[in-house]
Amino acid sequence: MKQDNQFLMALDQGTTSSRAIIFNQKGQIVSSAQKDFEQIFPQSGWVEHDPEEIWTSQASVATEAITRAKISAHQIAGIGITNQRETTIVWDRNTGEPVFNAIVWQDRRTSAFCNTLKENGHSDMVRDKTGLIIDAYFSGTKIKWILDNVDGARERARKGELCFGTVDSWLVWKMTAGRSHITDITNASRTMIFNIHERKWDAELLDLLDIPREILPTVKSSSEVYGTTSGDLLSARIPIAGIAGDQQAALFGQLCTEPGMAKTTYGTGCFLVMNTGDKPVKSNNQLLTTVAWQIGEKVNYALEGSVFIGGAAIQWLRDGISILKDAKDSENMAKSLEDNGGVYFVPALTGLGAPYWDQDARGAFFGITRGTSRAHLSRAGLEAIAYQVYDVLKAMEKDAGEETIEMRVDGGATANDFLMQFQSDLNQCEIKRPAIIETTALGAAYLAGLAIGFWKDVEEIRELWKADESFKPKKDKKQMEKNLKYWHKAVNRSLNWLN
Ligand code: G3P
Repeated sequence: MKQDNQFLMALDQGTTSSRAIIFNQKGQIVSSAQKDFEQIFPQSGWVEHDPEEIWTSQASVATEAITRAKISAHQIAGIGITNQRETTIVWDRNTGEPVFNAIVWQDRRTSAFCNTLKENGHSDMVRDKTGLIIDAYFSGTKIKWILDNVDGARERARKGELCFGTVDSWLVWKMTAGRSHITDITNASRTMIFNIHERKWDAELLDLLDIPREILPTVKSSSEVYGTTSGDLLSARIPIAGIAGDQQAALFGQLCTEPGMAKTTYGTGCFLVMNTGDKPVKSNNQLLTTVAWQIGEKVNYALEGSVFIGGAAIQWLRDGISILKDAKDSENMAKSLEDNGGVYFVPALTGLGAPYWDQDARGAFFGITRGTSRAHLSRAGLEAIAYQVYDVLKAMEKDAGEETIEMRVDGGATANDFLMQFQSDLNQCEIKRPAIIETTALGAAYLAGLAIGFWKDVEEIRELWKADESFKPKKDKKQMEKNLKYWHKAVNRSLNWLN
């Protein structure tokens, strides 16, 4: 059904912005639009979004991208959705109104409850069933919090009056004018209530968190037609044909389709994901086991290391403490220095994720002297992103039993050459940046394209992946080991800060 005048649209609903990107048959970007939206911080450690703003920003960029591409909505053959994962929304099934703000994946309000779950000995059971480590990061305890704290919510949930969804569910619900309450398996695998082996919502976990089954969406594959857009949106009925959480979509967009292939996305957080094929691999090194995608009946699994603060460190240096005017300045500021001047930053602003998993760690600068300048603080921010990725990579290498020779990267911060070179020096491996760094959106477009025959099979799209630039180590291992020694000393001092 492929025709020259047809395109695919990816909706990339991220933590800080909503984006829409239109791709042609060669997987090239034809147009894109992006809109930031409000981050709500009601209390220390809490992070919320307005679900209506998630939707309106997403709908407006979809329209804008079509206008910019100078095409008609009827030329969009299909839509793929990719999204910030774990972020939790509960809404009224009849009116479509959210009962509370979206509780964002970074939100720590359920940390104490998670600690209680661990103390009560549930870690192994949760790990065995979901592949996850008990943490406030995942949706399960966020759903429980809403049902516990919004008046009458649990009762209404029991009566089937409420819907829970991650952001993909919410967007599909809105796009189909409330006709579909679904999610895809990659998003389900991040809720901590989904059994990744049996591929269904888990009764024991639902009981543990007191979540009524009636609230849950139907779990679908990552590549199929889930419904069509209601005519109100974009004035055309377009099939919604692919969904994957953003990290899984990036893995697919990087064409890491063979076991052992891995990518790192530098977004708000940093996420290393390695394809482990049709077998879920249990990590011995604090990584998560998760679903990479499901196409047809075939499920691919992955190992993941999630770092909570990646690009967000630079955002905080800019918006939080005004060290930077523009995120782009960080590259030149870092390059203006010989070295880091002994300054290290541990960006545990929302605790630490993999491989430390310490909800009670908090951020800190170390090594500050009279000679420390803004440039040092900024460089410490960039270096911290790379050290965290290094730590996760080492954990992944231990699980995989081999050293990484090549790492594929994507996401906004990969445009920063200083960061990429520093990462390569640290890892002592080649870093490959693809020609299109929008691989998250591309992955969602690929998944949608496969479902509607826009592309025949994975082989056809594999031809489309091209590396743009590669970074090879320029510094020797010894030099970097000194930095790592101080980094780990700094991390150790930040751990368990709250206790
Ligand atoms: O797990 C959280 C992740 O999906 C958020 O991704 O790109 O918004 O940082 P991003």
